[in-house]
Amino acid sequence: MSPDQATFFAQEAPVFQAFAQQFSLDPKVVYLMAGQKGSMPDSVRQRYHEGLDQIARDPFPVHLEPTATTRARIASGYGASVDEIAISRNTTDALSQILMGIEWQRGDEILVSPMDHPAALATVLRLSARFGVKIAQWGVPVHRTATADEVVEAVRKRIRPGVTRVIFFSSPLWPNGQRLPERRIAALAQAAGAISVADGAHYGGMIDPRLDESGVDFWAIAGHKWQCGPGGTGILYIRNHQHPANPTPLPRFHIIRSSARDIPFDGSRPAGFDIGAAMSRYGFPESADWRALGDVCALWDEVGRARIQAWTLNLADYLRQRIATTFGDDALMQPTVDPALKSAIVCFNPFANAQQRIDPDVNMLFRQRLLREYGFRISGSGVGPDGFTRAPDPQAAAFPVGLVPNRDPDTLEPKPFGYTLRANACVWNSVAQMDQFVAASHDLVRKMTT
Ligand SMILES: Cc1ncc(COP(=O)(O)O)c(C=O)c1O
Repeated sequence: MSPDQATFFAQEAPVFQAFAQQFSLDPKVVYLMAGQKGSMPDSVRQRYHEGLDQIARDPFPVHLEPTATTRARIASGYGASVDEIAISRNTTDALSQILMGIEWQRGDEILVSPMDHPAALATVLRLSARFGVKIAQWGVPVHRTATADEVVEAVRKRIRPGVTRVIFFSSPLWPNGQRLPERRIAALAQAAGAISVADGAHYGGMIDPRLDESGVDFWAIAGHKWQCGPGGTGILYIRNHQHPANPTPLPRFHIIRSSARDIPFDGSRPAGFDIGAAMSRYGFPESADWRALGDVCALWDEVGRARIQAWTLNLADYLRQRIATTFGDDALMQPTVDPALKSAIVCFNPFANAQQRIDPDVNMLFRQRLLREYGFRISGSGVGPDGFTRAPDPQAAAFPVGLVPNRDPDTLEPKPFGYTLRANACVWNSVAQMDQFVAASHDLVRKMTT
């Protein structure tokens, strides 16, 4: 550990040790998977239960707090204005509404990477079939020394101005935890007259969010992962103003789900139209869920979102160093140099044997034994038969199950890479847990290779 890291951890550990007390995670398990599902902090959960009780006693009023209040509490921490925030059911729901609401013309292209999540790619396949939209792909530079410049160039060269209607990307990417330079990709879209859409399932709650400053037109964010809100909550951002980071006119947009009738029905965006309110009006929610999402966002703001980002990213960096010294540099399966491409998701494979590194069964067993015998919960990359790389992609056979589907950034030839094990550095984790995790992994690899 460098002296700077030691100073950082010594200074911040008391704050995060205290914060960790808020989470009722099973003490027998070190939970390294906020990216699967977060744990609701005790103070939020207590008020959530009170809300459920109140609704059970008197269901008629439905809302525990006005939706606009909850949206405003979310908006302030996420760097957006309240009219740009809608409450969705989760990332998948938000992505469906965004991608299906764009005013597609037959022959338009959507630019995506094969490394995006099945939740997004399924929607892309549906919209392609329904609107006659062509799916164009880009290959993500994923090697350890990859830079944001290389990523931007890999996207730039696939853009066809006038044809590329949407640039879709995830940040961070789920199979290797790589953050993408959101603002620079959004700028490429603006220059090409295209719309940018970001899957931020792992962004909200991990990264200090600056949605207006990102210049991205639409964000889909999970409420229940790193943000630690209730299941079935998500945040949908719709740029509703011309910002310094994105001064282009607002794209026409068709609202898919709303009971609002006093709004435009032709996709137009008149000044003063509170689109976030219209998109948050659909039937009666479980209002305790929504209020809890506002509560957990306010708690994150109180602790400090920049502080949370610094804690989790520094823990992740420390874990990467420990993995590299224990298993060698090749164990890390994500960019580790350019800070613009790093997140709190650490993706690695500790096996030295080439066959073990790509065998889904071996890696699944590793995950299971790590939980059963050592008490660490992690996940893996395995893309199943529902992934984008299955039919109708004619090259599907080149993307074996379990490996991360990608394409060569230059040639676009299929270039899947190894099975990644995914460990998340979460707000409740400590430096000692990172050490213990690497020691446990080391012991288990020894058992599995002898
Ligand atoms: C990148 C990405 N997008 C979307 C999703 C789906 O998330 P949700 O459960 O919020 O719909 C996931 C789930 O892990 C994900 O990793």
